[in-house]
Amino acid sequence: MIDENLIKEVDEAINNISTYDDLNDFRLKYLSKKGSITSLSSKMKELSNEEKREFGYCLNEFKNSVQSRLNAIKEKMDLEYLNKKLESEKIDITLPGTKITKGYIHPLNRVIEEVKEIFISMGYDVKSGPEVENDLYNFELLNIPKSHPARDMQDTFYINEEILLRSQTSPVQIRTMLENKDKTPIRIICPGKVYRRDNDDATHSHQFEQIEGLVVDKNISMADLKGTLEVAMNKLFGDGRKLRFRPSFFPFTEPSVEVDVSCFKCNGKGCNMCKKTGWIEILGAGMVHPNVLRNCGYDPDVYTGFAFGLGVERIAMLKYEINDIRDFYTNDLRFLSQFKYIEKSDDDASK
Ligand code: DAH
Repeated sequence: MIDENLIKEVDEAINNISTYDDLNDFRLKYLSKKGSITSLSSKMKELSNEEKREFGYCLNEFKNSVQSRLNAIKEKMDLEYLNKKLESEKIDITLPGTKITKGYIHPLNRVIEEVKEIFISMGYDVKSGPEVENDLYNFELLNIPKSHPARDMQDTFYINEEILLRSQTSPVQIRTMLENKDKTPIRIICPGKVYRRDNDDATHSHQFEQIEGLVVDKNISMADLKGTLEVAMNKLFGDGRKLRFRPSFFPFTEPSVEVDVSCFKCNGKGCNMCKKTGWIEILGAGMVHPNVLRNCGYDPDVYTGFAFGLGVERIAMLKYEINDIRDFYTNDLRFLSQFKYIEKSDDDASK
């Protein structure tokens, strides 16, 4: 009852299906609303009831057989597509992997972290300030006016008359006191980069790291400074360290001292590290100058304070026996990777 030619044509068309596009084209041509198979049902109305039943039956059979062949083709194509995809995404887990090497904490950051931890455990806050600084904060308010000879101690990079690259971390003291108005206590340390017009050599770098410390409150004395530094230096360089204060000069402290630590290599007997003196110069410190307190809104008759400044490179050079400051900045992996073996407390980061 169904046109033989159409059956043949459909059969051939199904046999020629090899892609998803072919499949869609076939559906469109034969099975869509106006497709040649679908439109066969319009014949119904011309038929008698008897014929209708028979034709309907044949048409259904035909449609079902076409549909089930299409389903089989689609299933096969889906499987092929999946297999191809799996094949292309296959990972050979027996191949050796690419080894990822972990970095190590830079020796300067190790020292900064260690010093931070020591002072945080004593209740200090960690502060930072801008590296591009005003002359006012870097010098003037620290009791170093424009013509003061102390400016020669720090050969500074100026951007213009008033703006410079900070030559010390001491301006963070000023910023903190100004921020706090006259509130106390202030207990801060400020690690950060500083810049000076030095020619780079084994012991000088035009950029280096300092850590500044500042405490301001009522009744702060030189004894507090000494006690604090004694605790810190014993933690940093190992138990049994003694401190020695030598008179010195900084414009922002009065009195000012240079602080030496008994040599942690020879325990004070005298060796190459301490140049046979038994002492190693570690930092500058002193009692905050009344002018500095006053400049920042603190009445020096009511408040006192101590301050200190240490060079991170110097400490790292001593601790790890490094004799060229430039090694910190040339990023030679042979140098840097040695620090993975140092100190148990950092093990996690250096594994
Ligand atoms: N700012 C000083 C420098 O760079 C270091 C220093 C010395 C800081 C004594 C201080 C201090 O706070 O009290 O040479």
